[in-house]
Amino acid sequence: MVDLKGKDILDGAQFTREEIDCILDVADDFRKQLDTQKGLDLLKGYVLAALFFEPSTRTRLSFETAMHRLGGSVVGFSSAESTSVSKGETLVDTIRTIDQYVDLIAMRHPAIGSARTAASVANAPVLNGGDGAGQHPTQALLDLYTIRTEGGKVDGSTIVLCGDLKNGRTVHSGVEIYKHFNCKLVFVAPDQLRMPAEIIERLRAQGSAFEETSDLAAALKGADFLYMTRIQKERFADPAEYEQLKGSYVLNRAMIESTNPRLTVMHPLPRVNEIDTDVDALPNAAYFRQAQNGVFVRMALIALITGKV
Ligand code: CP
Repeated sequence: MVDLKGKDILDGAQFTREEIDCILDVADDFRKQLDTQKGLDLLKGYVLAALFFEPSTRTRLSFETAMHRLGGSVVGFSSAESTSVSKGETLVDTIRTIDQYVDLIAMRHPAIGSARTAASVANAPVLNGGDGAGQHPTQALLDLYTIRTEGGKVDGSTIVLCGDLKNGRTVHSGVEIYKHFNCKLVFVAPDQLRMPAEIIERLRAQGSAFEETSDLAAALKGADFLYMTRIQKERFADPAEYEQLKGSYVLNRAMIESTNPRLTVMHPLPRVNEIDTDVDALPNAAYFRQAQNGVFVRMALIALITGKV
């Protein structure tokens, strides 16, 4: 077992291969335990703060579910308007205060680097649930867990990442996680939304196998996994540019059936229009199973960080 006790979870680049394997194995163990019981009492007495300064459905509720299933409790908020941030309180003062109350902090905030700022002043470990267009490491771990459970392995897989790769924090964390595995990445995006240059440079320097294209249909032919992402409206300074790009890629059932019927389709969700609902009934559609995996992976992270496993 690796030692993650007391560690912050801030970005995808922080993990070793051994740590990633361990997190996924512990997640698997919790999944099996929840097959036969509703919950555990491993975290009895512990309190998690779920601080969501930006909207969320899956990340917040799966963190909360994970903590409850482990026997712990949750406090927090789902928007900053109901807190003293609306009176002008800073992020640092908010975190310093909540740090007096809880054992763990899971947070989402619109500013890149906000989780790192929080971790620099908190004694409690901080789990980054998304910092603007920066990082979303717990999502990337659950994505990897989904690839492993759906495909039986990660090594040897071709993974197509499609959509808003510029602003998508899940893919920014994902590439840092996938680099530990022998898989090929294909980045599909319109020119304006390509993977940031500094990430491309890093992947080149590391010798990672990847390709860039704007042609989704061509990329699908050799893919094992398609990871669709939403065009992130909230990150656009120019609404007209969003309107121009929002329909860049729309996956539908016919595309899967004609190009690659064995494709596994993933999406961190929420989706807007980039996966047609006619895909949902196909066995290829893994995105709701992926959302469920968030509970197991976040249980694993919480248990490892508190030193309970
Ligand atoms: N995947 C994800 O981050 O979803 P939410 O925005 O609903 O948390």
